[in-house]
Amino acid sequence: MKLISIACATAFLSSTSAYNVPSPKPAASSRRVALKTFTAGLTAALLPATANAYTLPDLPYAYDALEPYIDAPTMKFHHDKHHNTYLTNINKATEGKPQVNIVDLQTNALEANPIRNSGGGHYNHAFFWDEMEAHDKAKNTAPSTALAAAISKSFGDLDAMKEKWAAAAAPGAVFGSGWVWLVLAANDELHIVGTPNQDNPLMKGVLKDGVAFPILGLDVWEHAYYLNYQNRRPDYVTAWWNVVNWDKVNENYEYVLKNHKGVPVRGN
Ligand SMILES: [Fe+2]
Repeated sequence: MKLISIACATAFLSSTSAYNVPSPKPAASSRRVALKTFTAGLTAALLPATANAYTLPDLPYAYDALEPYIDAPTMKFHHDKHHNTYLTNINKATEGKPQVNIVDLQTNALEANPIRNSGGGHYNHAFFWDEMEAHDKAKNTAPSTALAAAISKSFGDLDAMKEKWAAAAAPGAVFGSGWVWLVLAANDELHIVGTPNQDNPLMKGVLKDGVAFPILGLDVWEHAYYLNYQNRRPDYVTAWWNVVNWDKVNENYEYVLKNHKGVPVRGN
């Protein structure tokens, strides 16, 4: 599959709000009235921000759980700063509009850059965190019989798939920032594709042959590996297999095969 246009990287600012909490000491009945009034006021004040808000899902493991393959400082910055910036900005971009599930938001993302970059960034990272696990656990997982058969059909075997993955993730293939994906295509076969920036295969127009459904994805932005690996992206790509949770990938495969939709993520 061939990729089309590349979006510019974006930088964003976050905003915060403060609320003044009253401290009256009324009698019991008037205290209830005051509390009710305060709560109603607070709810009204929060409503515009929260009614349309996506959320930052916690990592399902500790920051240092993926060491030595991915270091704790990288995980902390990656999740708390980078992912959170995408989140802040997709909430800004969609504020006041009916909330659309983050999976469905991907479909027409190329029509609007805030959705494309920030909505893609939120979905991609939420997807990424949940497919990884500490090596002690990850090493006991493996492709299911069904997924292994699909991998064999498309690539020969798992090692051959990893070779193609390494080639697709190399700086020469995804130049600059982007992602590599294992996807279920419309013909129900598996393919490996790369996407620039925060694009993903769920977005109409990113892949030449239509949308495809990711079951595994790798962030190859420098922010995902530079503290530990510097310019050695291939070493990061190789090491990352040690923390892939195949139980989750199997689950993703079953979901997309059955539904032909993007895998739901935490953070809606
Ligand atoms: Fe990232």
